[in-house]
Amino acid sequence: MKTLTSRHSFKRKILVTGGAGFIASSLAEKIAQDPDNLVIILDNLSTGDAGKLPKLSDNLRFVKGDVNDYKEIMEVMLSFQFHYVFHYAAMVGVLRTQENPVSVLRDIRGIENICRISKNTGVRRVFYASSSEVYGEPVEFPQNAHTTPLNSRLPYAIVKNLGEAYLRSYHKEYGIDFTIFRFFNTYGPKQSKDFVISKFLLAALRDEDITIYGDGSQTRTFCFIDDNVDACIQIAYQDLFINDVVNIGNSIETPILELAETIIKITGSKSVIKHVPPLPEGDMTRRCPDNSEMLKVIQRPLISLEQGIRKMIDDGFFDYLNQK
Ligand SMILES: NC(=O)c1ccc[n+]([C@@H]2O[C@H](COP(=O)([O-])OP(=O)(O)OC[C@H]3O[C@@H](n4cnc5c(N)ncnc54)[C@H](O)[C@@H]3O)[C@@H](O)[C@H]2O)c1
Repeated sequence: MKTLTSRHSFKRKILVTGGAGFIASSLAEKIAQDPDNLVIILDNLSTGDAGKLPKLSDNLRFVKGDVNDYKEIMEVMLSFQFHYVFHYAAMVGVLRTQENPVSVLRDIRGIENICRISKNTGVRRVFYASSSEVYGEPVEFPQNAHTTPLNSRLPYAIVKNLGEAYLRSYHKEYGIDFTIFRFFNTYGPKQSKDFVISKFLLAALRDEDITIYGDGSQTRTFCFIDDNVDACIQIAYQDLFINDVVNIGNSIETPILELAETIIKITGSKSVIKHVPPLPEGDMTRRCPDNSEMLKVIQRPLISLEQGIRKMIDDGFFDYLNQK
């Protein structure tokens, strides 16, 4: 593995798992803007793809590998001796995770591998992409990272919950520092087309029907990718939320029907909204973060839904998906 390592001595060596995916590719790109950082993206290209990778350079490199495979991830972590790990690789998507529950459970191996090898290679802090799904059908509003009881029921949510428990346990027993990000719905140009905003936007840009499960009164909050990435990077650089958990999301609730109407308005589309029966499970009626801690970190207003959708169109979302 000698060829993978660098002759440069970088101030920080950072592993980003899942970096050929939507959120982690943007994160990796931004972290690598600092030439003192060496960023290694590890991804098995299962749902991500090479087209989403940021432009590679001497301080931003890609290794194809599976974080759930101990030997593969060990080899990479051993050769680079990372200072920080952003563990974002996971199987995602409501339908995909419900149709492949056994594959979802395999991601437990990935988090265990990251914890174990971080302990053995001197990683200073592990940043973990958890999810608002750990709140399940929430028992209070808004969801507070410290006081709202978790209500994880589906395999994806249980794996995220267990991932959080791994980090807490490795910290308690071996002193490894961690930060847990509980991401609420995030959207942006590189999001895959099976998520609600990209699905609706793609349909609208093609003047196709927009399909809504149920009456569309279920609300969601939508956090633009730049807000997510800026907050997480600030948290890392300023040493915030060490051995703690923080909600990362936007707190403005939008009914799904209104989202479809907004997208039709912005795009000037001729799409027609079609309602189909509600999903049997996993489609929460409402979820909303208490994001007050995130707002203190980011110190600027979050990007509005309309601004974010316009940015997606301007940043070539449609061209990107059309190439696929
Ligand atoms: N997008 C959201 O709204 C959202 C909300 C909550 C939590 N999250 C979490 O944020 C993280 C990133 O999500 P995303 O939306 O960018 O998803 P994504 O599917 O675009 O990215 C995930 C990436 O991980 C890779 N991957 C999956 N399993 C892997 C493995 N075993 N080894 C190596 N690479 C693997 C995939 O190929 C993909 O590139 C995930 O952990 C997800 O659970 C996302």
